[in-house]
Amino acid sequence: MELGLSGRTALVTGASLGIGRAIARELAAEGVAVAMVARDAARLAAAADAIAAETGARCVPVPADLSDADALEAAAAAAEAALGRIDILVNNAGATPMGRIGESDDAVWQKSLALKLMGYVRLERRLTPPMRARRWGRVVNIIGRSGHQPRATYIVGSTVNASLLSFTHALAQECAPDNVLVVGVNPGPIGTPRWESLVAQGAAASGRDAAAENAAAIASTALGRLGTPEEVSGLVAFLCSDRAGYITGTMIDVDGGGTRCI
Ligand SMILES: NC(=O)c1ccc[n+]([C@@H]2O[C@H](COP(=O)([O-])OP(=O)(O)OC[C@H]3O[C@@H](n4cnc5c(N)ncnc54)[C@H](OP(=O)(O)O)[C@@H]3O)[C@@H](O)[C@H]2O)c1
Repeated sequence: MELGLSGRTALVTGASLGIGRAIARELAAEGVAVAMVARDAARLAAAADAIAAETGARCVPVPADLSDADALEAAAAAAEAALGRIDILVNNAGATPMGRIGESDDAVWQKSLALKLMGYVRLERRLTPPMRARRWGRVVNIIGRSGHQPRATYIVGSTVNASLLSFTHALAQECAPDNVLVVGVNPGPIGTPRWESLVAQGAAASGRDAAAENAAAIASTALGRLGTPEEVSGLVAFLCSDRAGYITGTMIDVDGGGTRCI
């Protein structure tokens, strides 16, 4: 399917690994010039170089810690300076740990809120006004199914994700008159470095071994397997295109049928 994205520009966060890297690659393969953000500068540069070599697209590494408001502003400005403008924003960087209420002190809450809630909010507040002025833009928030199916063992992530579901709906209403579309994507268990870390954390907390923990998560899906980053990135590229021009203010689960609610 021709997505018509060639010539567009994007900023993708958490782009050096996992889902974000797959999204950066997918957009680059569609002819999008991509600014890629993550903290580890060497790993990010290697990812940008590899994707640029594979796709021929311009890939600009912009190292930054997005939980820091000043660093986030500098990254947004650097991405705009490098690419001229940002048409597409994919908010994906998140690192909330597993944990029950008693295991999650203020520092854990604040760190998760600073990155996954305020990081998304600040980039959208910064980058949607120019999109609105040009009357074309796309924002995709990678959230997570715990936002509408909360888990006691992942209480911080569930709460942050629920906030992002609400924020995504509200921002979509705000931006729709200017043809800036805002959607959420809720991955289920996707095989990434973060997934391996969550399984290890879950195993440590439950006393099960990692294989049993992983098997329990897989059993929670209808398809009976983990998803791949590419099964998320394909949807994101479609949502960024004009083929998805009538989709805004909604959330799409990419979870192997694991979310059982209406
Ligand atoms: N994998 C799943 O099963 C799953 C399920 C539901 C939702 N999600 C969500 O999907 C998103 C991506 O998950 P993933 O599994 O692909 O994660 P991942 O494999 O851990 O990759 C995370 C990416 O974010 C970057 N990052 C982390 N902290 C950052 C910070 N403070 N500032 C800037 N960049 C930062 C990492 O690079 P650096 O460490 O170098 O900064 C890396 O590029 C997350 O929001 C996650 O909550 C994932």
